[in-house]
Amino acid sequence: MTDIFDKCREYRAYQTAVNAGIYPYYHPIADWLSATEVSIDGRRVLMAGSNDYLGLSRHPQVVSAATRAVSRFGATNSGSRLLNGTLTLHEHLESRLAAFLQREAAVVVTTGFQANLAIAALFGRGDIVFADRDNHASLADAVQLSGAVHRRYPHGDVDRLGRMLAAADPAAGKVIITDGAFSTGGDLADLPGLAALARAHGARLIVDGGHDIGLLGERGRGAPEYFAVEHGVDLVTVTLSKCFGSLGGVLAGPAEVIRYLRHHARSLVFAASLPPANVAAAIAALDIIEAEPERRYRVLDLAEALHNGLRAYGFDTGMSQTAIVPVRIGDTTLCLRFWTELLAEGVFANAMIPPGVAEGQALIRVTVTAEHTTDQTARIVEALATVGRRLGVIPPVPPATFHAVTMARPRRSPETVSGRRRKPHAGREGKSRTTVGGTHDDVLPADARVMTALVDGRRPRHHRPVPHARGRTPPAGRGRAFRFAGARTQLR
Ligand SMILES: Cc1ncc(COP(=O)(O)O)c(C=O)c1O
Repeated sequence: MTDIFDKCREYRAYQTAVNAGIYPYYHPIADWLSATEVSIDGRRVLMAGSNDYLGLSRHPQVVSAATRAVSRFGATNSGSRLLNGTLTLHEHLESRLAAFLQREAAVVVTTGFQANLAIAALFGRGDIVFADRDNHASLADAVQLSGAVHRRYPHGDVDRLGRMLAAADPAAGKVIITDGAFSTGGDLADLPGLAALARAHGARLIVDGGHDIGLLGERGRGAPEYFAVEHGVDLVTVTLSKCFGSLGGVLAGPAEVIRYLRHHARSLVFAASLPPANVAAAIAALDIIEAEPERRYRVLDLAEALHNGLRAYGFDTGMSQTAIVPVRIGDTTLCLRFWTELLAEGVFANAMIPPGVAEGQALIRVTVTAEHTTDQTARIVEALATVGRRLGVIPPVPPATFHAVTMARPRRSPETVSGRRRKPHAGREGKSRTTVGGTHDDVLPADARVMTALVDGRRPRHHRPVPHARGRTPPAGRGRAFRFAGARTQLR
């Protein structure tokens, strides 16, 4: 007889990593010491792994709104929106979000995960869902819950998707679902391409704006605004736990669709509603998002500095154009060791390993927020470089040239950013190639590298080569041994 708990007894990956001293998850933060520093294991550590991109979760206006809401409405509504958990505050947030996102209507649910699960109410048996392979786990789970056919296309491969759509049953209901900005790579979906395909094949397009709404676009309406394809996107989902510094999820789109979801989305109907403090915090955050666009630009400036500072040292930071800076490591065990040594250097980031990323593509996800200083950003770069050299991830001596990247700033960026006049990006003088969303990969010579590596022009220090050579043997249990979760679980 099979005991369903057998697999738990046989689950070794966790203990192996703990024994090797390289387990990177569930690491408790004892305290927040400032907007960017935390106390971990009794030490002051620089936070470079938060999704609070605009730095609003501790903003005085947001905290005070949350505190007032708790005093007035209590800690929870202890009931579902449908029955007894709706406050006028929820309705206020919904109308504010609908106006902000320029959608007919919006509905607020308790988490971003639940917002994505809610879309399962819109499709079912006989329908076909076309999904990017790198979509967030919650979008994949929504398709499985719905019973619709799940057709996954290779990450970002719009041509392949086009062929899949052309081959699909013309009578079937069709929907394309994608992250706007992908949560591990920070790269953007080709929304213009996807919107054109959706139009051509009579499919709907649903976009999860978790990592881009609040951050990208002139008004902060995310990747659809950035690409000027908002009319081609039928429904957006958003989490309030990132740019909005709170907790919660949102779906925004046509009024009739939102009304339908209010009565059919099981993750909404059968779950306690978003607590008052989080509703009030999100409203206060939205006030700031609308009033202070410079926060968005600051994050993108810092992220660009982080990217280029790391690239100048020889790191591969992928194709991100957002606040997510993926530092590609490759081997899983090496990635876990990197994470551990980075923490020892006083920087907390995120280790992303399979199944959250493809086998052999483990990475350290580094993020900065609007609250980080340029000096802190430089410290993050230096700490990564120290560990990278020690573990042989980067060469002992920085390369002579590197490919500089530019972030997805709005097409019409404001004249001044963070109180200073915006300078043209030095990388534009280099050789460039165009990718989705703008100029990427400007090849810079070494001296230009120094000028553009960091926002404040701080020069990356050249350390002496360290004895650890590239390709050093990782500790026991490399590769697959450190799959902490099953294939369908994504650690994001
Ligand atoms: C793209 C994306 N969508 C949805 C979610 C889920 O949001 P929440 O954490 O609010 O449940 C996340 C969170 O990691 C995410 O990255």
